[in-house]
Amino acid sequence: MPSGFGNLTNLEVLTLTSNRLSGEIPSSLGNLIHLVSLDLRYNQLGGRIHSSLGNLSRFEWLYLHSNQLVGGIPLSLMKLPLLSILDVGSNMLTGIVPSQISNLTRLTELDISANRFHGPVPDSIYRLWNLSVIRLGSNDLTGVARLDLLLQLDGVMEVDLSSNAFSSIIFPKPNANVSQIKVLDLGSSNLTEVPRFLKRQHMLDELSLSNNKISGQIPEWLLQGIIGTLDLSFNYFQGTLPVPPNSIGYYRLSSNRLSGEIPASTCELDIDVLDLADNNFYGPLPLCFGNFSSSLRALSLSGNNFTGEIPDFSHEPCRLLMMDLSSNVFEGQLPRSLTNCRRLQYVNFGRNKITDSFPSWLGLLPWLKVLMLHSNRFHGVMTAPSNNSLFPSLKVITLSENNLGGRLPADYFASLPAMKYFSPDDEFVDPFAQMITLTILDKGIEREFGKTLGYFTLVDLSNNNFSGTIPVSIGDYLLKLHTLNLSNNSLSGPIPQSLANLRKLEVLDLSRNRLSGEIPRVLTRMTSLNHFNVSYNNLSGSIPNGNQFGTFENTSYIGNPELCGSPLTKKCGNSPLIPTSPADNQPGKSSRPLGIVWITGLVGLVGGLVVGVALEHAFGADVLNWLAWKWHNYWPR
Ligand SMILES: *[C@@H]1O[C@H](CO)[C@@H](O)[C@H](O)[C@H]1NC(C)=O
Ligand SMILES: *[C@@H]1O[C@H](CO)[C@@H](O)[C@H](O)[C@H]1NC(C)=O
Ligand SMILES: *[C@@H]1O[C@H](CO)[C@@H](O)[C@H](O)[C@H]1NC(C)=O
Ligand SMILES: *[C@@H]1O[C@H](CO)[C@@H](O)[C@H](O)[C@H]1NC(C)=O
Ligand SMILES: *[C@@H]1O[C@H](CO)[C@@H](O)[C@H](O)[C@H]1NC(C)=O
Ligand SMILES: *[C@@H]1O[C@H](CO)[C@@H](O)[C@H](O)[C@H]1NC(C)=O
Ligand SMILES: *[C@@H]1O[C@H](CO)[C@@H](O)[C@H](O)[C@H]1NC(C)=O
Ligand SMILES: *[C@@H]1O[C@H](CO)[C@@H](O)[C@H](O)[C@H]1NC(C)=O
Ligand SMILES: *[C@@H]1O[C@H](CO)[C@@H](O)[C@H](O)[C@H]1NC(C)=O
Ligand SMILES: *[C@@H]1O[C@H](CO)[C@@H](O)[C@H](O)[C@H]1NC(C)=O
Ligand SMILES: *[C@@H]1O[C@H](CO)[C@@H](O)[C@H](O)[C@H]1NC(C)=O
Ligand SMILES: *[C@@H]1O[C@H](CO)[C@@H](O)[C@H](O)[C@H]1NC(C)=O
Repeated sequence: MPSGFGNLTNLEVLTLTSNRLSGEIPSSLGNLIHLVSLDLRYNQLGGRIHSSLGNLSRFEWLYLHSNQLVGGIPLSLMKLPLLSILDVGSNMLTGIVPSQISNLTRLTELDISANRFHGPVPDSIYRLWNLSVIRLGSNDLTGVARLDLLLQLDGVMEVDLSSNAFSSIIFPKPNANVSQIKVLDLGSSNLTEVPRFLKRQHMLDELSLSNNKISGQIPEWLLQGIIGTLDLSFNYFQGTLPVPPNSIGYYRLSSNRLSGEIPASTCELDIDVLDLADNNFYGPLPLCFGNFSSSLRALSLSGNNFTGEIPDFSHEPCRLLMMDLSSNVFEGQLPRSLTNCRRLQYVNFGRNKITDSFPSWLGLLPWLKVLMLHSNRFHGVMTAPSNNSLFPSLKVITLSENNLGGRLPADYFASLPAMKYFSPDDEFVDPFAQMITLTILDKGIEREFGKTLGYFTLVDLSNNNFSGTIPVSIGDYLLKLHTLNLSNNSLSGPIPQSLANLRKLEVLDLSRNRLSGEIPRVLTRMTSLNHFNVSYNNLSGSIPNGNQFGTFENTSYIGNPELCGSPLTKKCGNSPLIPTSPADNQPGKSSRPLGIVWITGLVGLVGGLVVGVALEHAFGADVLNWLAWKWHNYWPR
């Protein structure tokens, strides 16, 4: 960020939101003595918040949300008599919340969420009578949190206490006369019951009690009080599905112990997001379910025992963006009416009993990015796509564990532009990215992969019956590919040299086929490769070395009797065996193979959906990259 901004001494408002500014916030901004508002949200600014900002005596609004700032809140800011918005959420700030915050009597909005603040909430906060928005969630705050006192502030509208380490939260007495709030997040707070005071809250727009230990039935009165969003996921709620009032737009009950069938009255809801994943629901979906799609944008029924056919989604206009029906017992064919859902971007039908040919007709969907069909009964040959159904946006496709056969679908590879052409879109880290966590589960170790699906691309055709050779053209097309898994098919012939063109490839699994010939030496040019497996084929000759090939273990090569050289113990005839020291294996350790793709916590609680609607126009198809959703069960656990 140019320090020259500090020369614009008449500036009153400086807004640089949603850029890619990095480096420190220049201390010269302390010269802008007329500055009233500074908005640097959604950049990549690092370093500390400079104390010179405390010189800006007219300062009212300070927005630093979603950067990479470190250090504490400078005490100099506590001298700003007019400060009304202090938003430093989603950074890496540390330290305690200064008790001098009581000085900021005009403060209406305080957001320190998603940082690493520790220590107790200073009592002085409960005397900031003008506070309306208080976001303290996702820190390491300790001590007793006094929600009862916060709700005595007259104008309080929004409180987030979630995911801290409070020893307890004191709630208002059930019959106390406290402020009616609109947004309340009590996620991850060790609650064992629904707080009783909620019975007298009638204005709640958004309520989250997720990730607690609440058991029993979902109280009827709780549903009646909510307009908008209700998130009860990750608890121990039992009983059947309570049908909420029509005012609910976002209904998330995933990971509970709810059971029974889905009542047909559910279809009457005018709902945006419905997440019933990981419960014990069973039975067929009511036929009317397809009618839902006129309002529904995200649906997850994953991890239940739903049976029967997937209903038709014929009601127009279909607004569905994401649909996850994975890990159920759905059978029959995929409904062709899915092509009515033109906006679909993420589809997961994995782990069901769907019996169908490859749904090439889904290639008509212009925005489809992720198609997961693994562990079903898809069969037959994948015929060439027609010119108007080319999967123009596809980045992730999983077909593993089906019974697809014939030659590898080279025509599809040729026609997947999103896997070939690099576009600015790939680098696009959207402002609402923190609402999504895309993680890769790697042999039980979960690590953060990235904030958006962004540039991640995956083709998984493993455990099928594909035969013939690996088409040479693969090296001309899937240039952006990160993971290619062709394991356990009936592929024969050589490993094409053209694979070396796939410079982004990190994972290449060709194991358990009938490939023959030598491993092409040019593959050592694939410097992104961190997992390579050609075991159980008929390969021969010596294993190439150099670059990444110094890091692969011998299990990458076993089961090829004619293959020789390090790391196998079989020596090659004329070239001397160079032993690999254990240290040589170290570079590979840091980047293990990518196993499970998991997108969790889809819609961020606070305002996500509302912002989503607004931004849909701005970002078009990419609106989905930040819409929260639960995406899981890619591989067996
Ligand atoms: C800011 O002003 C100072 C002093 O007037 C000058 O030396 C400097 O070059 C200016 N910076 C920029 C970026 O214009
Ligand atoms: C601005 O603040 C810094 C540190 O707080 C201080 O050293 C400096 O004198 C101040 N400058 C002005 C112009 O007030
Ligand atoms: C509180 O604000 C006043 C001016 O409004 C200032 O003089 C005083 O130093 C501030 N106290 C702290 C602890 O920052
Ligand atoms: C609340 O803010 C107003 C100005 O917006 C100010 O006049 C008033 O003193 C503040 N209230 C308290 C209790 O500090
Ligand atoms: C919840 O309880 C566990 C163990 O009892 C404790 O480690 C954890 O810090 C508590 N979390 C919160 C948010 O209170
Ligand atoms: C599905 O049903 C089977 C057999 O009835 C049961 O063993 C299994 O636990 C159920 N799974 C879920 C997720 O309810
Ligand atoms: C879907 O809704 C329309 C009217 O909104 C109704 O006519 C139709 O019968 C419904 N379909 C199902 C399967 O319920
Ligand atoms: C598809 O397009 C290609 C060239 O773009 C053309 O050669 C071919 O005839 C077209 N096929 C069909 C079925 O339209
Ligand atoms: C290979 O795939 C077949 C199905 O095509 C499956 O039955 C078999 O278990 C798979 N083998 C391994 C080792 O995964
Ligand atoms: C696999 O494909 C071959 C033909 O390529 C066929 O003979 C065989 O029956 C298929 N296997 C299965 C399990 O479908
Ligand atoms: C390579 O694949 C084989 C068989 O699929 C497996 O046994 C072996 O562990 C794999 N090696 C590595 C390094 O992943
Ligand atoms: C490739 O697919 C097979 C079968 O689905 C799986 O066992 C293996 O772990 C996959 N390889 C990688 C590197 O993920």
